[in-house]
Amino acid sequence: MFPLTMTKRRPATATLVLVLVLFECSKQMALAENGVPAIFVFGDSLVDVGNNNFLHSAARANFYPYGIDFRGGPTGRFSNGRTVIDMIVDYLGIPNAQEFANPDTSGDRILKGVNYASAAAGILDETGRHYGERYSLNQQVVNFESTRNDLRKSMDNWNLTRYLSRSITFMAFGSNDYINNYLMPNLYTSRFRYTSDQFADHLLNSYTRQLLALRSAGLRKFVVAGIGPLGCIPNQRATGVALPGRCVDNVNEMLGDFNEGLRSLVTQLNSQYPDSYFVYTNIYGIFGDILNHPDTYGFRVVDTACCGVGLNRGQITCLPLQFPCLNRNEYAFWDAYHPTEAASVVLADRAFRGPPSDSYPINIQQLALLSL
Ligand SMILES: *[C@@H]1O[C@H](CO)[C@@H](O)[C@H](O)[C@H]1NC(C)=O
Repeated sequence: MFPLTMTKRRPATATLVLVLVLFECSKQMALAENGVPAIFVFGDSLVDVGNNNFLHSAARANFYPYGIDFRGGPTGRFSNGRTVIDMIVDYLGIPNAQEFANPDTSGDRILKGVNYASAAAGILDETGRHYGERYSLNQQVVNFESTRNDLRKSMDNWNLTRYLSRSITFMAFGSNDYINNYLMPNLYTSRFRYTSDQFADHLLNSYTRQLLALRSAGLRKFVVAGIGPLGCIPNQRATGVALPGRCVDNVNEMLGDFNEGLRSLVTQLNSQYPDSYFVYTNIYGIFGDILNHPDTYGFRVVDTACCGVGLNRGQITCLPLQFPCLNRNEYAFWDAYHPTEAASVVLADRAFRGPPSDSYPINIQQLALLSL
């Protein structure tokens, strides 16, 4: 690009000045290029920002007291306040992506990314069926392809390729494939068809296919969140299977197959696709740390939800207009299934800046700075 032969004919000082100017320009370009232009979010209720408000679903959170601590009140987020994804986009310095299902999510509004996450959704299409409509992983990938067509109207192929390769793709799946499928043998048959390690393989096969479909569509920087210790959520504690004060150990053990498989998948994909980067976030380990050492993080209640009904306030999840606990920063769980904003701060912080035991092999901050 730069006609190097020309420098031979220039006086030395002029060449030096030119080189310095070019160096300064390229430094500034490098800085500008390091920014993450957009985030594409795929997943379930842990990162849904309101898609289910537009679907015929019983899995919704667009009513008080959800959002009691959120600027603007209830939105469809399954939290008292912000969720992990709200915090991660803050750290990245970009606005949060809007929900795909909202007709307003069009035109220039998609340039900073789109959120496809849908409460009750799983890796498997049938997961969460008893809640009604939801966007499964497969549907979310189809929805992304439609966004990609729209983006193509705003930029040429060269710019779209660069834009997608610098964007971050955040994925949080798998929890519902257990709690709203495998662990509900009265409604789903997977428990009879697969042993728990076969089921984990089955989930990971589908997950791999869709990760590669997104890579084929141009995305390059992936964060895949593992599953948290579901055996410890108020909903599972309330089943009465565990001893008082203990988690449901066999549920946590099942998730080990999935989480370990997902972590190995990341290693495998990183060596197989050098043009892409995959990061595994150890939600199980981070949340487990909160549950084992609540004092360290300022939590006092880790076995009972802040809002909900029955045993551990986990038998029926938080209901419209129900009064939640007052000391929400001292609770790890907001409702029967979801973390409070306070617990999400710990998850987001360690996913973003944590050591390889939290985010593997690198953290989200390093992923954002990586030039592929
Ligand atoms: C990419 O976008 C820039 C800025 O909008 C534009 O000037 C350029 O023509 C586009 N295409 C290529 C191939 O650089």
